[in-house]
Amino acid sequence: RGGDHVRIVEVGPRDGLQNEKQSIPVATKIELVERLAQTGLKTIEAGSFVAPKWVPQMANSSEILERVLQAPPQSPVPITYQWLLPNVKGLDNFLKTWEARTSSPSSSSAQQNNGYPTPPPSPGPGNIDPDAVPSDAADQTPKHEISIFTAATESFTQKNTNCSIAESLKRFEPILTRAKDLNLPVRAYISVALGCPYEGPNVDPHKVAELAVSLLEMGADEISVADTTGMGTAPKTAELLKTLSAAGIEKSDLALHFHDTYGQALVNSVVALEHGIRTFDAAVGGLGGCPFSPGATGNVATEDLVHCFHSLGAKTGVDIEKLAEVGEWISGELSRGNESRAGKATLAQ
Ligand code: HMG
Ligand code: MG
Repeated sequence: RGGDHVRIVEVGPRDGLQNEKQSIPVATKIELVERLAQTGLKTIEAGSFVAPKWVPQMANSSEILERVLQAPPQSPVPITYQWLLPNVKGLDNFLKTWEARTSSPSSSSAQQNNGYPTPPPSPGPGNIDPDAVPSDAADQTPKHEISIFTAATESFTQKNTNCSIAESLKRFEPILTRAKDLNLPVRAYISVALGCPYEGPNVDPHKVAELAVSLLEMGADEISVADTTGMGTAPKTAELLKTLSAAGIEKSDLALHFHDTYGQALVNSVVALEHGIRTFDAAVGGLGGCPFSPGATGNVATEDLVHCFHSLGAKTGVDIEKLAEVGEWISGELSRGNESRAGKATLAQ
């Protein structure tokens, strides 16, 4: 494990903000993405194209996409932005902005800013570990991916997306076909993999494996296995990962997405790291929660995960001090406590 590279997918701007009741100005959301881009993170899930009557907080994601395309945030490493969507309508809405910008001959980061505030100056290398910077770092053009989502139980799938699991897979077929045509990589989430708010803590790991195999066969590039409720424990995580391996799923096709409701997210992450997983989702400041998982709290705090992985000798490329400042800043903006213990401790040093 020592010296291995771990990819952190920062989901704070999407998972972290989607459940906030207060209306968050789009300028704050954009600033969050821009600040995160300066920390050495390589992947940021920046918004979602879901039905606004279901998740009103994400209604202005096209403005965030517009901004990222038009004036890519300054970053020390090339960044991939991910955009969550549940159906073809979400894909159409995403493409309306994405295709308009990417197909226009004049589209370039050098363009004027169309009334948006000027992006912050280049951060310079700071404390970012040069060893953790990929060799293609010279190409700073951001990349984009989409994420789709289903779940391991029927009840959760109904609550979250108003359809059965089988119907959710059907919805993905045209999305995957079009994404392939457009060279857009697709990540697929499987929610409630370690416990369901409606069906309890014992979700069948074979169901998760069966879904993961189907999604990969349908053309998904990566599966993010999600502990939506935080009911996962170290033994359950190990059992799930063994079941996924036994089903023939490569570790490199998997990401783990832990919510920290029971305080087990870090322990579960270490179990997954030991098992060979190298992609982990997290939210700065421990923001987040799913509106359709009552009582579930935020994702594992990115600062805590980075601190933990660095202590184990893994390389994330993330500057924890810069990240801790972002966690403190966004917590203040949202008038909530900073949920990252490592973030607060780093700032107090
Ligand atoms: P529905 O009500 O069955 O959809 O919702 P519908 O097709 O009947 O459409 C209803 C209305 O929504 C229509 O508008 C559509 O046009 C509109 P109206 O005619 O009433 O004015 N609509 C849309 N508008 C914008 N964008 C769209 C869209 N689709 C329909 N994409 C639907 C079905 C799937 C749309 C809905 O259930 C939905 O949007 N669900 C998303 C729920 C969500 O965002 N959950 C949180 C994200 S997942 C998560 O957090 C878990 C994760 O973090 C992993 C983990 O931790 O587990 C990823
Ligand atoms: Mg989540």
